[in-house]
Amino acid sequence: MSEKTKIQVLNDQKAQSRLGGGQARIDAQHKKGRLTARERLDLLLDRGSFREVDPFVVHRTHDFNLDEQKFMSDSVVTGWGTVDGRLVYVYSQDFTVFGGSLGEVHAEKICKIMDMAMKNGAPIIGLNDSGGARIQEGVVSLAGYADIFLRNTMASGVIPQISAIMGPCAGGAVYSPALTDFIFMTRNTSYMFVTGPDVVKAVTHEEVTQEELGGASVHSEKSGVCHVAADSEADTLYLIRKLLGFLPQNNMEDAPFISGDDPLRMEEGLNNIIPDDANKPYDIKEVIGMIVDNGQFFEIHENYAQNVVVGFARLGGHSVGIVANQPAVLAGVLDIDASEKAARFVRFCDAFNFPIITFEDVPGFLPGTNQEHHGIIRSGAKLLYAYCEATVPKLTVITRKAYGGAYCVMSSKHIRSDVNLAWPTAEIAVMGPDGAVNIIFRKELEAAKDPLKRKAELVAEYKEKFANPYVAASRGYIDDVIEPKETRPRLINALEMLSNKRDGNPAKKHGNIPL
Ligand code: HXC
Repeated sequence: MSEKTKIQVLNDQKAQSRLGGGQARIDAQHKKGRLTARERLDLLLDRGSFREVDPFVVHRTHDFNLDEQKFMSDSVVTGWGTVDGRLVYVYSQDFTVFGGSLGEVHAEKICKIMDMAMKNGAPIIGLNDSGGARIQEGVVSLAGYADIFLRNTMASGVIPQISAIMGPCAGGAVYSPALTDFIFMTRNTSYMFVTGPDVVKAVTHEEVTQEELGGASVHSEKSGVCHVAADSEADTLYLIRKLLGFLPQNNMEDAPFISGDDPLRMEEGLNNIIPDDANKPYDIKEVIGMIVDNGQFFEIHENYAQNVVVGFARLGGHSVGIVANQPAVLAGVLDIDASEKAARFVRFCDAFNFPIITFEDVPGFLPGTNQEHHGIIRSGAKLLYAYCEATVPKLTVITRKAYGGAYCVMSSKHIRSDVNLAWPTAEIAVMGPDGAVNIIFRKELEAAKDPLKRKAELVAEYKEKFANPYVAASRGYIDDVIEPKETRPRLINALEMLSNKRDGNPAKKHGNIPL
């Protein structure tokens, strides 16, 4: 038999590396409805753009007979490629090798690619499918995770960091994603937990499935850990590509400008969208859809704390972050979850140069022992802090209610919002008419012959006086009251007016946001 040429040796080794844990394990992965690490990268990146690094890396461990089980590339595939022609760095954990668990060299490969992403100012995307720290490597695996956590933290606010959860992820495989900007999950095939069901059973005697403990619905609806849940792996990866289209490469750049909708477009339908009865709901997403370019809105946390809506869109071609109270859910009230959801989003926008557009229709903060005992004071303060500290262009449109503390919080003029507009349907006051009359006229109502009639009169008087935008506008707290149909051109004009905005905060190491 003729000896192999050097080229043949190279190609054989690369083929071996591409096989990961071997065909049987690849088949098992497919049988569970999951793709392999490399198949996922093929879907995520532009065709043919992936450049792998470190395909020859193998682990250096001898304990537990690991030296008899070596797999080239170890349990993670790393490199770079493009999405819609724009550079991204990627790592994709390979569950077919030691369950995607992270040991010394796995961590080194990820750290190398993260360092390159930071140095060259491009997003990093991690496709996670891992049982966490590789148990056989002991503290070396923990050290590897800690090295990654440090890099996640240093990269925060410098380059966008996106995590996808593609399989059963435990331990460090969920804490690293938790430090990143956005977490995507695939329904029915991906799970996130600090410890899996077996450990839970051993410690708490609780029997729970992976899905019940940390499936996509748990994290996208209850815990809020997941920002976007999709029905299949292909959809998950497609949605990451879509999100990237709204993002800048790093904090020194703006997101790409893409025009394609008339900046002067008026929307007659907006003039009639607010119901005559101020307590009737309407869908703020319908409002957003009518205002933004081509009705395209990329929602973050769609199924979590739905009383506030956040996401990305374009206005006149400029990528913007949108924060909106949702009157169709809990009357748009701000509670703990909604405050935290919006606060985190505002901080992402501020870090990455997104103008923030706020649509406000909020009856206030949610009252009650449940909210008070769980810290609505602290959570509401997070949102307040986030808006106060943000120095990007801030535009606010009050569509209806702007009551109480929520008026101050939701990007009011007083906390450095640049342009504040109100629709004629706006009501700006310390509280709604009913509650206000009950408090300030309590004695008069108790003494009245016909308290119901008197209350109706007082409510009407209060409404006449305060339930409008003109008191605030007369003080300059609102820059203008506009016809709803003009909202799109007015916002685009304001964005362009603010395109050279410069603002800053006092020099300090960092602030102390109430976490
Ligand atoms: C080494 C691991 C592993 C790990 C899984 N495997 N997790 N090997 N270290 N952490 C191996 C299994 O032994 C198995 O190998 C293969 O991967 C597939 O695993 P299965 O258990 O068969 O798969 P599945 O039933 O789908 O369950 C997946 C799982 C479960 C839920 C992730 O494996 C699990 O609970 N693993 C342990 C999770 C964990 O507690 N990790 C440590 C976290 S501590 P074979 O050869 O049999 O196919 C941590 C610290 C970081 O990460 C710091 C945080 C702050």
